[in-house]
Amino acid sequence: MNVLVTGGAGYIGSHTCLELLECGYGVIVIDNLCNSNPKSLQRVEQLTGKPITFYEGDVRDEALLRKIFTSHDIGCVIHFAGLKAVGESVAKPWEYYDNNLNSTLTLTKVMRDVGMKNIIFSSSATVYTADNEMPLRETSRTGNCTNPYGWTKYMTEQILSGLAHSDPEWSIVLLRYFNPIGAHASGLIGEDPRGTPNNLMPYITQVAVGRRDHLSVFGNDYDTHDGTGVRDYIHVVDLAKGHVAAVEYAAKTKGCEVFNLGTGVGYSVLDMVKSFEEANGVAVPYEITARRPGDIATCYADPAKSAEILGWKAEKAMVDMCRDSWKWQSQNPNGFGE
Ligand code: NAD
Ligand code: WQD
Repeated sequence: MNVLVTGGAGYIGSHTCLELLECGYGVIVIDNLCNSNPKSLQRVEQLTGKPITFYEGDVRDEALLRKIFTSHDIGCVIHFAGLKAVGESVAKPWEYYDNNLNSTLTLTKVMRDVGMKNIIFSSSATVYTADNEMPLRETSRTGNCTNPYGWTKYMTEQILSGLAHSDPEWSIVLLRYFNPIGAHASGLIGEDPRGTPNNLMPYITQVAVGRRDHLSVFGNDYDTHDGTGVRDYIHVVDLAKGHVAAVEYAAKTKGCEVFNLGTGVGYSVLDMVKSFEEANGVAVPYEITARRPGDIATCYADPAKSAEILGWKAEKAMVDMCRDSWKWQSQNPNGFGE
């Protein structure tokens, strides 16, 4: 079966392309490269010895999508393409709503027209309200998002579940990711953020490699075991395997189902610094600074539904996440840029 991967040149997309190829799927990618480098796909081809068909273009380009669907026999779509920086979404709400919503609307319009109605969507733990009890279950409260990025994920879930409700031929899987980190064990592909990283692990690796002076730890007065924020970090290769499980599930079911992709275990910021230093024998100098607006104290998943229904479970440990993040960063100090 061929899988169309939108945003496949990006961080999670490239790792998922690799797992799909390893499992025998054909892979077609559409990506406009607004936040990625096509070298990621070349490296996936190098690692797997298998080709990827790549279309450089925008998912909002309806004519291009029609061309792709008529040129290939596609059995499932994994829709990663989107803008993902929370802070930037506050400064550029129109761009976020336009990109993230119109890409999904155009894609599903074309899918409906060609009669191919299996789609996996990259949602996020950010759709859960801040006042939930931990761990977060798929039935926990959603909405009340604090930024446009979060709203685009919430709204896309509504759009897709509405489609499934209106037409029983759709098979839709909404995957709510927790905090993906790490890289392929080869160190050949990984996360390559543009500019100053917003997320913790790429910031830690850039400090460790000497590109930045120190890590700012955003607050140590939260109600957690050491006062710093606790999150559910998941290895990107485990996350990628979760998509393969979702493709298999979508092929044999109809309707719309939502799954958490997390480990169920929370680590604080200082736990992360210590784990990274111990795993790699490098120092990560840090300073405690003010809380980052919008952050919550603790967020972790209940991954039981994914285990039960998708048959998927995160397997990699924190030491793997830290080692693989560092291998990628130390082998590629400027990401794909050199
Ligand atoms: P990424 O930026 O590395 O990948 C997204 C890819 O989509 C990029 O290659 C970008 O060039 C492409 N793209 C963006 N808009 C496009 C468009 N209109 N047409 C074609 N290509 C387009 O991000 P990622 O970390 O791999 O995230 C993938 C998906 O998972 C995103 O939808 C993101 O919101 C979601 N997600 C990510 C995280 C995370 O922490 N990384 C957590 C939860 C959900
Ligand atoms: C993790 C912890 C920070 C950077 C974000 C999005 C979410 C999802 C994943 C897409 C927090 C602390 C961070 C730093 C720090 N993305 N931190 N210093 O905020 O849990 O989730 O990415 O869907 O929607 O909001 O991840 O990696 O930014 O932060 O102290 O320089 O690290 O305060 O406690 P977050 P993160």
